[in-house]
Amino acid sequence: MDVLIVPDPGAVAREAAAAVIAGLRRADGDVVLGLATGSSPLGLYRELARLAAEGTLDLTAATGFALDEYVGLPSGHPQSYRKVLLREVCAVTGLPPERLHVPNGSATELDALEWAAAAYEDEIRAAGGVDVQVLGIGGNGHLGFNEPGSSLASRTRVKRLAERTRRDNARFFERPEDVPTHCLTQGLGTILEARRLVLVATGEAKAAAVAAALEGPLTASCPASVLQWHPDAVVVIDEAAAAGLRHRNYYDAAALGLHPTG
Ligand code: GLP
Repeated sequence: MDVLIVPDPGAVAREAAAAVIAGLRRADGDVVLGLATGSSPLGLYRELARLAAEGTLDLTAATGFALDEYVGLPSGHPQSYRKVLLREVCAVTGLPPERLHVPNGSATELDALEWAAAAYEDEIRAAGGVDVQVLGIGGNGHLGFNEPGSSLASRTRVKRLAERTRRDNARFFERPEDVPTHCLTQGLGTILEARRLVLVATGEAKAAAVAAALEGPLTASCPASVLQWHPDAVVVIDEAAAAGLRHRNYYDAAALGLHPTG
C-alpha cells in the first residue's frame, strides 16, 4: 500500500490523477475505469477532465463501471449515481456515456435487484475486469456502500444503508427522508479484483476512518481495511485526513522513492 500525504485537496486531485493514469497505462487494450461517487473524487475527475482537454489523456475508448447505485430513485433523478457520473465524468472527460455501466437499481422487487446485481458482475467480467478503481471512504469506513459488517468476500448485491450514511448523504437531497434506504453496491470481493485501487480522502471528518482503514485490523467492521489486502492500493490524502496516522514518518519517507537524493 502506498500512502501519499499531500498539503491540500488540490494536490490530492493531482496526485490521485497521476496514480490513476499510471495504472491505466499498464492496461492491455482499452482501459476499464471503476468510478466512485461522493464529493471526494470530484477534484480527481476535474483533473482528469483537464488532462483530457489538454490532450494528455484519452478516455474516448475507455469503459466505466460505477461502484454503486441507489435503489428506488425515480429514473433520471439528479442524485442517481448514473446521473452524477454522466455529469461529473462522461460530460467532461470524454468517457463515452454508452460505455458507462451502473448497477440497475430501478427494480422494486428483491428478486429483480438480485438479478441486476448478478448481471453487473457479468458485465465487469465481460469487460475483462477493472484496471483502476477510484474509491472514497465513508466516515464509518464504508467502501462503495459496503457498510460495517460487510463480508470481505462479498460480491455486487443489495445492501441497506447505515443510518449514518443516510445522514451523511442527506446534503445531496431536498429532505433527509428522500435518501434511499437501499442500494446496489459492488462487493468488497469485487473491488479487490480491480488491478489497482486509488483511494482519495480529504478533511478531518475522514481522519478516524482513514486511520482505522490503513492501520487498524483487517476487519468487516471497517470495510475500507480491505485495502491492506490488495497488492496495488494507492491512498492519496490531505494533511487533515492523515491526522490520525501513527506511521506518518514512514509513509513520507517511502514516498520519496528509491533515490531520494539522486
Ligand atoms: C458515498 C459513496 C461512497 C463514497 C462515500 C463518501 O455514499 N457510496 O462511494 O466514497 O459515500 O462520500 P464523500 O466523498 O462525499 O464523503
